Amino acid sequence: MDFKQLISHCKEYGFIFQSSEVYDGLAAVYDYGPYGVELKNNIKNYWWKSMVQMHQNIVGIDAAIFMHPKTWKASGHVDAFNDPLVDNKDSKKRYRADQLIEGYCDKIEAKIKKDVEKARKKFGDAFDEAQFRSTNGRIVDRQKKIDDVMTQLGNLMRDEDMAGLKQLIIDLEIACPESGSRDWTDVRQFNLMFSTQLGNIAGEEGKLYLRPETAQGIFVNFLNVQKTTRQKIPFGIAQIGKAFRNEIVARQFIFRMKEFEQMEMQFFVPPGEEMKWYQYWKETRMKWHLSLGTPQSKLRFHDHDNLAHYANAALDIEYEFPFGFKELEGIHSRTDFDLSSHQELSGKKLQYFDPERNENYVPYVVETSIGCDRMFLTQITQALQEEKVPDADGKESTRTVMKLHPVLAPVKCAVLPLLKNKEELTKAAKDVYDKLKISLNCQYDEKDAIGRRYRRQDAIGTPYCVTIDFDTLEDNTVTLRDRDSLQQERVKIEDIAAVVNGKVDMAKLLGTL
Ligand code: GAP
Repeated sequence: MDFKQLISHCKEYGFIFQSSEVYDGLAAVYDYGPYGVELKNNIKNYWWKSMVQMHQNIVGIDAAIFMHPKTWKASGHVDAFNDPLVDNKDSKKRYRADQLIEGYCDKIEAKIKKDVEKARKKFGDAFDEAQFRSTNGRIVDRQKKIDDVMTQLGNLMRDEDMAGLKQLIIDLEIACPESGSRDWTDVRQFNLMFSTQLGNIAGEEGKLYLRPETAQGIFVNFLNVQKTTRQKIPFGIAQIGKAFRNEIVARQFIFRMKEFEQMEMQFFVPPGEEMKWYQYWKETRMKWHLSLGTPQSKLRFHDHDNLAHYANAALDIEYEFPFGFKELEGIHSRTDFDLSSHQELSGKKLQYFDPERNENYVPYVVETSIGCDRMFLTQITQALQEEKVPDADGKESTRTVMKLHPVLAPVKCAVLPLLKNKEELTKAAKDVYDKLKISLNCQYDEKDAIGRRYRRQDAIGTPYCVTIDFDTLEDNTVTLRDRDSLQQERVKIEDIAAVVNGKVDMAKLLGTL
């Protein structure tokens, strides 16, 4: 299924709507609908439980979105949280210069992929992709071009060389996707933070920022949390919450939004031990992604070549989105930069007395930071598919199915009376629904033929459908249909919850970590 179809599916089935759609929407801002909010909550719940509940030495907080303005001076966001922007003079559209250049490389990568797929078809089982990529002349040249451009881009971004970025756009003959013109303005730095104003203080003094990352709420609370929970280093603080960035984007759906949600964990460690923990969290986080059934081939590590000023190591876990491999989660070794900066600007000590070392120090920090919305996008990209299935009359038909991990599925079980106008069936079905709804997120549906109702549940990823028929009235059994295998079995009413929970209970998944 292509990206456009995925976006329409999300709207049609109540997962995601464009924000303020009645006013033609607001770019890069989205609302989660009834099924979207359930899926998103399940993602957050799985992350929270695996981080907090599964680690004795990790605790959670929920800090405010607004923070003292000095926070963002200390963190470096006021001075350095910028994107390089460029305008096309003909279309008047604004772009991120680095994204225009990355887009140029994505197009070359798409050509490589096309050649690889052609060869795969031609050579069948004997095809060795790695060998083909390293020996096919055209692919080798194209890959070299990508590598050269990305290296140049990395250097220009590191040096904040705006004139160099403009020159690279001109050299690569990049045209505006809207107007096709190559008439560009100079590239300028643009701060990504949204600001607002405190009511009682005029001017710069009263300027308040909407947090661009949740991490700073954790840093400034480091000692509050350590003292009140009596945690010993190494320990972590986890948080899920909204973050805001004035992103200039086009057509990437919920991948890059102006208002989004982060799931972050800051792990405080003794200086000198950060690389050990960086490795630990790199492996632990990859395992978490794999536990949900995301194939290893769709995930990869990407080490940062150019490190931010506060980091001594950083990598991304990338996922192969419909528009290529892109960052899903960041793992950063942030040294003692943030705590030291807050200590300096606030004049308050943010140190820890280590009884084992018998010394005070500012801890080092390894952070794991994942966007909840990007995680959502990986799961629906992975899950949504069209497949041929046998019909009741033995023929084949196509169904759209969201094969979400059952633990994440918005609705766990649909309860369906075989016929709508037989009161004894609808009453029995409503009784079953009332029993199940206590322990499972269920849905009762009596509208349309049973086949159509099954298809509706497939489209939102419901792992089980329970059908109440005339046999139910005789023997208290129902038909339980499995979304993936399509197998149907007779199950006693009192056993339904246990069978469904066997698949959808998060405890089992947590046990695999
Ligand atoms: N505290 C570290 C930090 O914020 P980041 O790489 O800027 O690091 C972390 O962001 C994660 O937040 C990213 O890996 C991504 O999943 C998510 N994210 C960042 N910007 C986003 C945006 N505009 N829309 C959606 N998700 C975003």
